Amino acid sequence: MMKKNHIYLGDCVEIMEREIDKDSINLIYADPPYNLSGKPLNLINNKTGGAFYKMNEDWDTWNYDEYVKFTERWIKKCWDILKPNGSLYISCTHHNLAEIVVEAKRIGFKLNNIITWYKTNAMPSITKRTFTHSTEFVCWFVKGKGWKYNYFQLKEWNPQKTKEGGSKQLRDFIHFIELPIVQGQERVKGLNGRALHPTQKPEKLIELIMMASSDKNDLILDPFFGTGTTGIVASRLERKWIGIESNKKYFDVANKRIFKKIRRNYV
Ligand SMILES: C[S@@+](CC[C@H](N)C(=O)[O-])C[C@H]1O[C@@H](n2cnc3c(N)ncnc32)[C@H](O)[C@@H]1O
Repeated sequence: MMKKNHIYLGDCVEIMEREIDKDSINLIYADPPYNLSGKPLNLINNKTGGAFYKMNEDWDTWNYDEYVKFTERWIKKCWDILKPNGSLYISCTHHNLAEIVVEAKRIGFKLNNIITWYKTNAMPSITKRTFTHSTEFVCWFVKGKGWKYNYFQLKEWNPQKTKEGGSKQLRDFIHFIELPIVQGQERVKGLNGRALHPTQKPEKLIELIMMASSDKNDLILDPFFGTGTTGIVASRLERKWIGIESNKKYFDVANKRIFKKIRRNYV
C-alpha cells in the first residue's frame, strides 16, 4: 500500500510505477537533474590549475539523448499518478527548459505559467562570455480542467502591500519571485560546515507553489526529493507528502531533517 509522509529510496520512475496509486496525487513538485554537470566552464585567464565546474555531480551528468528519454519517462509517470485536476510544477533553467516543455506537452500537459525565480545572490558572470545566469524557472503544468489556483490566499501572502498595508493585486508578483540561493540557517550543512547538497531549493519557493495549487490535507509528491525541502514545507502547511530519492546519502539527510528536525552537521 502507498505510504504517506514517507521517503522511498530508489529510482523515481520505478517507484512511481510500482508504489504510487494512479490518479492519487494532488500536486507534484519536481526538481530534476538539469544535465549541466560535466561541462567545464571556459574561463578567461583561468588560474585555478584545472578545469572549473559550476556543478559536477554524477546524478546530473547525462548523454543528451538519454536525458531526453529520461525526461519523457518520469513526466509520463507523473501524468499517470496525478488526479485529473492535479498540477505538476517542474524547476529548470535554460539548460533543460525546452526539453521539459516539449516532453510535457507531448504527453498531454497544458502549460499554465512559467514562474521566474530571480536569484538575488547569483554567482557573477565568471566566464565573462555570457549574461549572468541569475534566474531559474518553474513550469506549471496541469493535467485537465478545474486545476487549483488559490488566488485570494496568494493575494494575502504577497509581500507587496498597498500604501494602507492591505493586500495588493497580483500584477507583477507570482510570475516573478525574488529570493536568494539558500544560505545561513536554512542551508543543510555537513560536518565540514559546507553545503551538503548543491541544489537545495528555498522553502519560500516551494511554499508559493503549495499555496497556489494545493489545500490542507492534499497529497504532494516530489520525485527528486534531495534534502527533503518539499516534505519540510508540506508538513508546515499541513499537507501530506511522498518523497522519492535515489541517493542514499541524501535519503538519510532528508529523513533526519524531517523526522529528527536535525538541520546541520549530518555526515
Ligand atoms: C536537483 S536535486 C533536488 C534538490 C531538492 N529540491 C532539495 O531542495 O534538496 C535532484 C535530486 O534528484 C536525485 N535523483 C537523480 N536521479 C533520480 C532518480 N532517477 N530517481 C530519484 N531521485 C533521483 C538526486 O540524487 C538529487 O538529490
